Amino acid sequence: MAAAAARLLPEMAYAQRAAVKLSDLPADMVWLNANEFPAGPTPAVLASMQQALPTSNRYHYQEFQQIYGAIAHSEDLQPEQIITGCGSSEVLHTSVDAFTSPTRPLISVTPAYEGPIETARALGRPVILTKLREDYTADVRTLAQEADKAHGGLIYLCNPNNPTSAMTTAKDVDWLVRNLPSNTMLLVDEAYIHFGESPELESALPYVRQGKEVIVARTFSKIYGMAGLRVGFAAARPGIIERLAPLRMNVIPIVSARAVVTALGERSTVLPARQAALARTRRELCAWLEERSVKFIRPHANFIMIDCGRDAHEFISGMPRLGVAPGRPFPPLTNMLRVTIGTDAEMAKFRDVFWKVYKA
Ligand SMILES: Cc1ncc(COP(=O)(O)O)c(C=O)c1O
Repeated sequence: MAAAAARLLPEMAYAQRAAVKLSDLPADMVWLNANEFPAGPTPAVLASMQQALPTSNRYHYQEFQQIYGAIAHSEDLQPEQIITGCGSSEVLHTSVDAFTSPTRPLISVTPAYEGPIETARALGRPVILTKLREDYTADVRTLAQEADKAHGGLIYLCNPNNPTSAMTTAKDVDWLVRNLPSNTMLLVDEAYIHFGESPELESALPYVRQGKEVIVARTFSKIYGMAGLRVGFAAARPGIIERLAPLRMNVIPIVSARAVVTALGERSTVLPARQAALARTRRELCAWLEERSVKFIRPHANFIMIDCGRDAHEFISGMPRLGVAPGRPFPPLTNMLRVTIGTDAEMAKFRDVFWKVYKA
């Protein structure tokens, strides 16, 4: 019971912090606070969900091997190299549960995505957070040193990182994989990998295929536009997946599973179109900020960290009243405002509202 409650707590704390606290939310609020994709499931994905609904009185357990096969093959993996979860949140949580202990810490950077960090804390596991470099990137050598000092641990690397939108280059990830201290596992969270355009950004999935001490977490919540359907997966060699399996809750809902299989079937056309649209809108926003000499961290995900030049609280509390909800505070980057990239119309409203508060 206590362990289950500990697993749920961080998710609830996180959701509460992310919620916008305003009694009268404007009906036309532009939501740029949770790094969701502005478009939802495609018509084919919607149709597959509608088809699944009437038979949702069944568990459909017999279908899952085929579903796991479809997910695995989409990334050139075998079904025994993946495990699905309720969003990538679940596989991140189970990874922390399985590969940290009271003497084996979670090691990451600050700020990073809080999910795994809060899971570790709720489970009573030590957490070591290292500083970002001057350019807001993770210092992979420091991460390895900390694992070495602790005689092992779970290194959590979010790439591109949330909330900074900065990337860890393929060269740095490669160095880290080659220099992992003993008793150390690397957990790479690639929730936003599809949005990167830099040739220096690469997935860590090849290390999974090589059977290294690496877990890669992926989600259908971002570029696939399926956050509310709650599907993610972890990829790792079969021995690692076997350690995660007893800790996960159960299979994913059949409606979500059918949606994922259909979405994978059309990803070769849908994903490039979504990547291109997002990248164009992101470029336009960067250009607009540059024209006004507003500083920001060069983004590699579907969100951007803008340097407000003063405490960002003023923006975080002031903008929702004007119809735009930006991200929450991310200490220690107290002057930074995290903004999700939405549609062109949403970003036009963002620019308007941001500028009003900036100039005030
Ligand atoms: C970096 C990162 N990883 C994982 C998640 C969890 O997302 P989900 O559980 O919807 O896959 C998020 C959510 O925003 C995130 O930002």
